[in-house]
Amino acid sequence: MAPPAIHKAPSAGTVPHYLTDYDSARRQFTWQQERRSLAGDLDSGLNMAHEAIDRWVERGQGGRIAARFIDRNWGRADVTYAELQGSARKFANVLGSLGIGRGAAVATLLGRVPELFSVALGTLEAGKVFCSLFSAFGPEPLKTRLQLGHLQVLVTTDGFYRRKVAAIRDTLPELRHVLIVREDSKEPLPPGTADFAQLMSRASDTYETAPTRDTDVALLHFTSGTTGKPKGVTLTHAAVVAQHATSQLVLDLHPGEVFWCTADPGWVTGIAYGLIGPLTCGATLIVDREEFDPRRWYRILAEEAINVWYTAPTAIRMLMKAGTPLARERSYPRLRHMASVGEPLNAEAVIWGVEALGMPFHDTWWQTETGSIMIANFPACEVLPGSMGRAVPGIEAQVVRRAPGGKLEIVESPEEVGEIALRPGWPSMFSSYLENPERYQASFIDGWYLAGDLARRDREGYFWFIGRADDVIKSSGHLISPFEVESALMTHPAVAQAGVIGVPDPIAGQAVKAFVELRDGFEPTEELRRKIMGHARRQLGAVVAPREIAFEQSLPRTRSGKIMRRLLRARELGLPQGDLSTLEGNA
Ligand code: WT7
Repeated sequence: MAPPAIHKAPSAGTVPHYLTDYDSARRQFTWQQERRSLAGDLDSGLNMAHEAIDRWVERGQGGRIAARFIDRNWGRADVTYAELQGSARKFANVLGSLGIGRGAAVATLLGRVPELFSVALGTLEAGKVFCSLFSAFGPEPLKTRLQLGHLQVLVTTDGFYRRKVAAIRDTLPELRHVLIVREDSKEPLPPGTADFAQLMSRASDTYETAPTRDTDVALLHFTSGTTGKPKGVTLTHAAVVAQHATSQLVLDLHPGEVFWCTADPGWVTGIAYGLIGPLTCGATLIVDREEFDPRRWYRILAEEAINVWYTAPTAIRMLMKAGTPLARERSYPRLRHMASVGEPLNAEAVIWGVEALGMPFHDTWWQTETGSIMIANFPACEVLPGSMGRAVPGIEAQVVRRAPGGKLEIVESPEEVGEIALRPGWPSMFSSYLENPERYQASFIDGWYLAGDLARRDREGYFWFIGRADDVIKSSGHLISPFEVESALMTHPAVAQAGVIGVPDPIAGQAVKAFVELRDGFEPTEELRRKIMGHARRQLGAVVAPREIAFEQSLPRTRSGKIMRRLLRARELGLPQGDLSTLEGNA
């Protein structure tokens, strides 16, 4: 049975919620109105960076803190909206001086550092495409993405460059400039790179924002599919309208409030809600440069007087593991709203929020492709623990089944599982899969965008997550392509074939497990297992590499030779093995 709904007590003295009555908010909401109130009429230009920062400076709010960066030793560095505007404009000028044209793409491979914000906003301001790469990726995933995205500029550190990029640089003829954010200025610059700080110091901070339009591409994010290359998802400048609206309606961010989004900037959440959306609301971002640590996180929540917190299930489960007493060692009088995204948030975690921090975690659902939150538990509404919540105003979301003749039918029964479908037309809907128009087209059926997730929808419109409709793995919130891991394993001389699946993990949600068939002449020893593991880590990075490798005499294949991941999964989990009619050797 589902746990009871949690009604939040209205906490005294807090600001009124943007969304107080769900049904009337849905009725009144239009994207047109939202576009107009943010940036004026449709025929006026629209630029993401302008809406995030320039607007506040123009209104005389430039002295407000846009972001506070916290370093390992608790040093705090504040950047105001005006300062961020200045550094963004400098970078826009740097791009001009390098001769980078409109529409070209600029990537970062950086941790959570101020330079990332300057590069992101400067690139957008200049009307170029910004792409942030996940800094825990190894050289292989970086190479694939830099190639696929035709990236012309990369901003990274000397450490990352030496460890991850130098060896693949030859394979990237389109990469014209590498700018180094130096960690150690005594070390010489790597050959073929330029000093980021030096270029910035020479650049002017006056710049006229490029006259971008709603339909111009602003962001490139990579996401993973089941087969083939990663998918390059493009979002347009119009996405800022939806990122702004949801930062208000779902995250409830008010001007001057302190907001902490713990997502890495290498993924869509880290840009949509770690940067753009909250700045359009005039909030102050807290950015921790360090990795997860329970004591550190509670100290940040308390000392930085966080008002609104957006985090992820894996982190919440790690905090639960560290124990409720640790959470209670401090008090959080300013905290008023907590939300979560990226993977299924179990009911226990929602309820633990009440026990440890005095309020439930509000689950939200979306994807790289949707560009902003689509389904959510709203701060003023009751929370159903274990449910992802209801469709955001302006979003039509349903659970559908595929009917004969290529039609979709809306599932009416709350018991029936179907696919999550969204009616196209919201401003942050992805505008393409880079160089893969077929794949893009195939995501839309019968007037709906199909998200590839399975869910149920109850009579009140609450969505309950069931699982993915494909083989993609979600580990610690990172979307991992089994194909990419299999390909990397197969570059090891001992590996003939590999099949990769996600196995349940109590903390990370899923963990990557590989089944490997060895080439003739190799023995399945512990030493070889370690070597293959090391090879995968070096190529892919530790986050993507398998946690476990099992040797198999022979992997189950279809008659056409494809590894049957479904069967590997069923065997691993002790599930019924389903229809095996296409299994090789079964004829
Ligand atoms: C996939 C999208 C959302 C931005 C960051 C991830 C899974 C997302 C939830 C949730 C269960 C969730 C889905 C989705 N997912 N939110 N609240 N409950 N699953 O974006 O990397 O494109 O991943 O993450 O499977 O399709 P992404």
